[in-house]
Amino acid sequence: MVASAGAQAGEQGWSSRTAFILAAVGAAVGLGNIWRFPTLAGENGGGAFVLVYLVCVLLIGLPLMLSEFVVGRAGQSDAIGSVARVAEESRVSRKWRLFGGIEILAGFLILSFYSVVAGWVLYYIWLSGGDFFGNLFAGEPLRGAFSDMGQDAVSGMMGELFASPGRLIGVHALFMVATITIVASGVHDGIEKAATWLMPAFFFLLLGITIYGAFTGDFERALAFMFTPDFSKLTAPAINEALGQAFFSLSLASGALITYGAYVGREVNLAPTAATISVADTGVALIAGLMIFPIVFAVGLDPSAGPALIFQSLPVAFQTMPGGSLIGLLFFVLIFFAALTSSISLLEGPTAWAIDRFGLRRPAAAIMIGGGAFVIGIACALGYNVWSDVRPLGFWSIFAEADILDTLDGFTGKLMLPLAGLLMSIFVGWKADRRLVEMQSGLSGGLFLAWRFLVAWVCPIAVALILVFGLFPELLV
Ligand code: TRP
Repeated sequence: MVASAGAQAGEQGWSSRTAFILAAVGAAVGLGNIWRFPTLAGENGGGAFVLVYLVCVLLIGLPLMLSEFVVGRAGQSDAIGSVARVAEESRVSRKWRLFGGIEILAGFLILSFYSVVAGWVLYYIWLSGGDFFGNLFAGEPLRGAFSDMGQDAVSGMMGELFASPGRLIGVHALFMVATITIVASGVHDGIEKAATWLMPAFFFLLLGITIYGAFTGDFERALAFMFTPDFSKLTAPAINEALGQAFFSLSLASGALITYGAYVGREVNLAPTAATISVADTGVALIAGLMIFPIVFAVGLDPSAGPALIFQSLPVAFQTMPGGSLIGLLFFVLIFFAALTSSISLLEGPTAWAIDRFGLRRPAAAIMIGGGAFVIGIACALGYNVWSDVRPLGFWSIFAEADILDTLDGFTGKLMLPLAGLLMSIFVGWKADRRLVEMQSGLSGGLFLAWRFLVAWVCPIAVALILVFGLFPELLV
């Protein structure tokens, strides 16, 4: 048997099915759910976007997640090696490993800007926490760093962070070092351990803050906003955005899930596991919306404020609410936990590949890949100050306004992930040996046929159409 990434690095893979689920849910649940999903829903009119998103998760995301696990466990290697091995066993060209390569590159690029955004979270923890505990020890009334500050002052504070390359790069570095440290410690002692501690804490905080928001915020309006579709908002770019978000949020097509599939024992039934992970991830996205929008509406903020929604608006909102300074601090701790369990999975995909491909030791591989992503992240950070005029893909209509970070985010999410997903669906649906796929999937009879139909027909056609019209909306008029 070909040694898996885990085996070469002296790993045995996950210690249990629960550990696997926690790690995979940890990968899925992240900034995508709490920062990206509410932002995109807000920008694209709420209900209509949520509806398309849910359809994408069900018909495309879930089937492809199972496909990734199947390829990983059958291939017993990193994203490229696993595809090559399944291709060999199915007697088709090893060139199919191209989509494994796109996945690994996408994961690497996502990691680079992900760590920058997670750095903002660290900065906010620092600000709100420092002041909160300062007041606590001074015996003053509990308030946060943002108390008594108006919108302008908080915006100014965010502006200060963004104007300072040193601060942006510093917090980015801090987050990347934490990520590298965990991945270097191994699948079992690093990734699995982090997930089993952080994920339960995350769920606890999430429920707490949501209940708080339901009592203190405008819950009804949030519900109406998120679940009343306005079909005039369903443009091709909005649909592309929803599809890309489904890929991003489920951690599809970015190297992680094939790799995690390789660490899963033979006894685990993959289909119900993929369903559990998808449901958990989607549930967290919806709950995050129900956590954020009631507060947004209660204080009269604009739900389409974009990425600044969380970092600029919510700190102010929290201050106007009872106990808000503590809740504000906990809120950013919550996002930090979610981001960390995701970033370690983002790093693991390319790291496993570097271990397999070059025979590197795990710590060396994690440092080199994480270091590379850190350097690209620096460019993202500079895109807010010294390079703020740079529009890397400015010639392309949908990227015309995008700064460096937004360009990387959009390019991976709207293009690379769906493209790799498209190739994967053709590979698993048409090329890979049918018996091998069926056996690994854990599905049989009608359920297997339904899954195969989705993977072989629905995914490629839908993703191809959405890609073409989403990337070139001009074609529609
Ligand atoms: N799913 C993560 C989130 O929602 C982001 C992500 C995309 C990811 N691809 C990944 C995380 C691969 C881990 C591995 O924040």
